[in-house]
Amino acid sequence: MKGIILAGGNGTRLYPMTLATNKQLLHIYDKPMIYYPLSTLMLAGIQDILIISSQDAQPNFEKLLGDGNDLGINISYRQQERPNGIAEAFIIGEEFIGNSPCALILGDNVFHGQGLGKLLSKCAELESGAKIFATWVSDPERYGVVDLDIDGNIKGLIEKPKVAPSNWAIAGLYFFDHNVSSIAKSILPSARGELEILDVIKSYLAGDTLEIQKLGRGYAWLDTGTPESLLEAATFVHTLQQRQGLGICCPEEIALSKGFISLKKFKILAERYSSSDYGKLLNKTIQETST
Ligand code: G1P
Repeated sequence: MKGIILAGGNGTRLYPMTLATNKQLLHIYDKPMIYYPLSTLMLAGIQDILIISSQDAQPNFEKLLGDGNDLGINISYRQQERPNGIAEAFIIGEEFIGNSPCALILGDNVFHGQGLGKLLSKCAELESGAKIFATWVSDPERYGVVDLDIDGNIKGLIEKPKVAPSNWAIAGLYFFDHNVSSIAKSILPSARGELEILDVIKSYLAGDTLEIQKLGRGYAWLDTGTPESLLEAATFVHTLQQRQGLGICCPEEIALSKGFISLKKFKILAERYSSSDYGKLLNKTIQETST
């Protein structure tokens, strides 16, 4: 399974914060936003990752994450010049995807919850069809929404409906088989001029190969596209980390727990940040690992 992080866009809802930098380089409490989706893919066991951003942003992502060697993964980079829609990621990433199944995560989506790693590792075993996640939210109009019949079967998928048919929002994490690039190439831009991710998903739904998993209330799914939601996500991370002393979405820690890197290498990485709170959090992990 390969993984794509879509970290493009102009971040206009965060202006002026994103006038001079990419949204995914802003921080959520103590770490860059991109660490969160990166951690989610790594939790699924994915080690081949493509980051799609813009010409301006790419050098900064490269400065931050390099080729992924520090984390025991491979990171490559491509650019999306205009925000032509989420589904364009599969066209830009066609060569990268090749004949593998591929996960896509949106660069501003944060996932957290007990057992998430296990659940995602299972998803990463997908070989045919598609898998998406639905989460109960209070404001479904802001998202792609699932329309379900009384037996819980999917009747339809609607992008940002004026009147939502349910409160089940589609989270920005998707698993697809290797057909995803050719499907993305076959869809047409929507009325707003974008290649819609929901149109790709609908093609799997039509072929009866779409699986939808509800993420119950034990999971947190946060998006960070507005100042309000960015602050809420930061507060969430801060509160849990402070209370537990455990890091949320620290790629170094996940790399260690997944066996992508050795404890020796982890210690070197933690030492690099020893004067920051983030480094202290990593060091706590070392203590735990050695007890
Ligand atoms: C996108 C998708 C939407 C999904 C959401 C999750 O919306 O189009 O279906 O529910 O991400 O974050 P956007 O954030 O681009 O408005």
